[in-house]
Amino acid sequence: MPDLVIRPAVKVDLDVLWDFLAMAAYEPDAEAAKAVPSVAKYLVGWPRPGDFGLIAEQKGEVIGAAWARRFSGEELNSPYRDEETPKVSIGVKPNARGQGVGEKIMRALIGEAARRGLGLSLSVRSENPARRLYERLGFRDIPGSAITNRAGGMSVGMALEITE
Ligand SMILES: CC(C)(COP(=O)(O)OP(=O)(O)OC[C@H]1O[C@@H](n2cnc3c(N)ncnc32)[C@H](O)[C@@H]1OP(=O)(O)O)[C@@H](O)C(=O)NCCC(=O)NCCS
Repeated sequence: MPDLVIRPAVKVDLDVLWDFLAMAAYEPDAEAAKAVPSVAKYLVGWPRPGDFGLIAEQKGEVIGAAWARRFSGEELNSPYRDEETPKVSIGVKPNARGQGVGEKIMRALIGEAARRGLGLSLSVRSENPARRLYERLGFRDIPGSAITNRAGGMSVGMALEITE
């Protein structure tokens, strides 16, 4: 992927982050993502203290984004209520997928988490091919984390522990 630039996500990126959250959460668009509280919580009020994120740009066009946010016990609805480990949201535009952009942003996000002394976790639909990418990067299924998702399928929690 030539001319790929990875930079920190800042406050003015919020509108574009909503588009990527919609992608990550299988919602048709940003407005739909904002209307579902369990989805919107990943961005409402962004950036909150402790939030961090990255934008992938090619020739000035945003083609991917990933960010991480910690949640309080009340905000976490999964069986694993880990308030310490930030949860990742990630999306790459459809026409840019499968070319290493997701892996590059994720590696950079892992680096940023490690600098902060943090691991990362995420929730992924069982049938999502992205699970292979996360496994390659060191994420592992969290035992007992499988839940029925909004679509009626299964989602599983995956976590990457700090290695340093
Ligand atoms: C998941 C996603 C961010 C990966 O970004 P990417 O730039 O395509 O990924 P890379 O090219 O770096 O890595 C390729 C890996 O991504 C995954 N992948 C590739 N195309 C994909 C697609 N269309 N949908 C989902 N995952 C895909 C696969 O795991 C692939 O690895 P594999 O070839 O070993 O199966 C991107 O495909 C995407 O935005 N998908 C839709 C939204 C989504 O599922 N977000 C994650 C929710 S947990």
